[in-house]
Amino acid sequence: MKYRKLGASDLSVSEISLGSWLTFGLGVDDAAGRACVDAAFDSGINFIDTSNIYGLGAAEAFLGKALKGRARSSYVLATKLFFPMTETDKGLSRAQIRKQLDLSLERLGTDYVDLYQCHRYDAQTPLAETMEALGEAVKSGKARWIGFSEWAPAQISAALAIPGAARFVSSQPQYSIIARRHEPEVFPLCAKHGIGQIVWSPLAQGILTGKYKRGAPPPAGTRATSPDMSGFMSHWLNDENLAKVDRLRPIAAQAGMTLAHLALAWVLRRPEVASAIVGASRPEQVAENAAASGKILSADLLRAIDAAVA
Ligand SMILES: NC(=O)c1ccc[n+]([C@@H]2O[C@H](COP(=O)([O-])OP(=O)(O)OC[C@H]3O[C@@H](n4cnc5c(N)ncnc54)[C@H](OP(=O)(O)O)[C@@H]3O)[C@@H](O)[C@H]2O)c1
Repeated sequence: MKYRKLGASDLSVSEISLGSWLTFGLGVDDAAGRACVDAAFDSGINFIDTSNIYGLGAAEAFLGKALKGRARSSYVLATKLFFPMTETDKGLSRAQIRKQLDLSLERLGTDYVDLYQCHRYDAQTPLAETMEALGEAVKSGKARWIGFSEWAPAQISAALAIPGAARFVSSQPQYSIIARRHEPEVFPLCAKHGIGQIVWSPLAQGILTGKYKRGAPPPAGTRATSPDMSGFMSHWLNDENLAKVDRLRPIAAQAGMTLAHLALAWVLRRPEVASAIVGASRPEQVAENAAASGKILSADLLRAIDAAVA
């Protein structure tokens, strides 16, 4: 496993990290979840991403139990807030940042997270209030560094322009061979300001592994067939994307890689990307995905990939 520095922070994160959206505490049973966490550590993954909203606290609670007994300094732990935990508990106000951070720490069984992220931008709270509260969280030692997810360039710039504001070190965008909208603006803006990218759904929820086929029902035991986990797939699992995957198959074969490795090596080709956050429902997937670290795609292969998905 190779490691990269996360933006201007002192965090060194594994190129492949383990996410927990829809899986831990929700669609994947605890025994399989624990096996995934063990497989992550076995393969050198040191970076785990979660959020208070995943399973309404259940993913954090699962991780609190699964990580118990491991040296706290042996992994980098990231969580987030923003989405409604109750009708009134939502957003990025000072009160919510204080309250949700404490609740996350309690569920995670730790007294600090390495990275505390704003899961989305909160248009209902003055940005200065959010930034001040994030600064307090860092000063208190409960959050070592701060980040955001899916903020627009103007929102990022507005935060950077606040004098004395705490410093963001990470951006968490959706990014994969078939989801590139943040590449032109967010990547260069962040790079200029010491903000690294930790990218989500790099396998497009499994679609880029090639296991879903045009004209065939989704295979049993996949996210697309899970009542708990399929809710966000319909927008992506369509003939257009499956045709792109079909055009990627011979390219992966030419590269001597699995499609999953091709997809992960593709996001990691960008130096702005510190880590690809991958979800998993079984430990074999974690091991396979971790082995994508360090794989390099030639310029010819990159051109072929661009043409395949154009
Ligand atoms: N900031 C945000 O707004 C946001 C949004 C979404 C996600 N995230 C973060 O990003 C993480 C990753 O998102 P994701 O789970 O959608 O990403 P993903 O890595 O693109 O998809 C993961 C899913 O693909 C399947 N899979 C993984 N490896 C495989 C392999 N080698 N072969 C075959 N199937 C494989 C598994 O599903 P099955 O086995 O069930 O098919 C797995 O749960 C999340 O856990 C979360 O931490 C953040």
